[in-house]
Amino acid sequence: MGRKLVFTSGKGGVGKTTMCANIGIALAMLGQKVVMVDADIGLNNLDVVMCIENKVTYDIADIVEGKCRLKQALIQDVDYPGLYILPSFHNYDTAHIAVSNFKSIIDTLSVGFDFVIIDCPAGIDAGFHRAVAAASEAYVVTTPHISAVRDADKVMALLNSYPLMNIGLIINRVRGDMVVSGDMMTAGDISRLLRCMPTGIVPDDDSVTVKSDIMRHDMECEVKQALMILAENILSGKRHMYDCTNDYRGVFGKLKVKLKKLF
Ligand SMILES: Nc1ncnc2c1ncn2[C@@H]1O[C@H](COP(=O)(O)OP(=O)(O)O)[C@@H](O)[C@H]1O
Ligand SMILES: [Mg+2]
Repeated sequence: MGRKLVFTSGKGGVGKTTMCANIGIALAMLGQKVVMVDADIGLNNLDVVMCIENKVTYDIADIVEGKCRLKQALIQDVDYPGLYILPSFHNYDTAHIAVSNFKSIIDTLSVGFDFVIIDCPAGIDAGFHRAVAAASEAYVVTTPHISAVRDADKVMALLNSYPLMNIGLIINRVRGDMVVSGDMMTAGDISRLLRCMPTGIVPDDDSVTVKSDIMRHDMECEVKQALMILAENILSGKRHMYDCTNDYRGVFGKLKVKLKKLF
């Protein structure tokens, strides 16, 4: 049986879909067979990030309604033959997909894949419950902003009531220059507030804004290194952390911090 991971958050826009897509790609690069499931029903973010929105013929709703088999709805990635996406549906009332139906789809997928990655909707309503109830591990994504951390805390508390094997923390969009100048919470601060050791720390990087599926692009950038370390941690259980402040230490580093503040 493969591992069933859900990426969740209290606050929207913290990078759940970005994490799902890029960790999925990174795990496929590491030789794992991966399927990503878009549980953010109504907003087909994952389809767009993975550039498959024009390839969607069937979706989760069609499987539940018996219009197609699970295999027919899966879309294979263009670059990685071991990577698939199960699209969310477009015009459907979310209440129609029962927790048990969704769980059964995820369980079936976990038989044929090493990793099932579920992109959870933001918030803590029915969509959250459906996605988390189907998973065996949860990763809470937060940014270092107080509102996101506060919402992550609420989600962590809720997750504790599910029979999950592991609850992890991903701190996304960390600005090394701001951490060094004391203008942003450190990973240690966030980890203490949430009483959870981070599984990964990911820097804020404009390359992600340009290319959301950054892992598949041939670009040298900080964020790719951090995402690969994070994927390796998920795979192996190790806790290597990317140091976002590395470039901002020492005399030249301090100069960089000052320059960043000016421009
Ligand atoms: N590490 C990052 N650096 C820069 N921008 C990021 C990073 N992670 C996510 N983003 C951007 O933040 C926005 C929200 O990300 P998204 O993954 O859609 O969040 P969510 O799924 O939690 O709503 C997107 O525009 C995305 O490109
Ligand atoms: Mg999303």
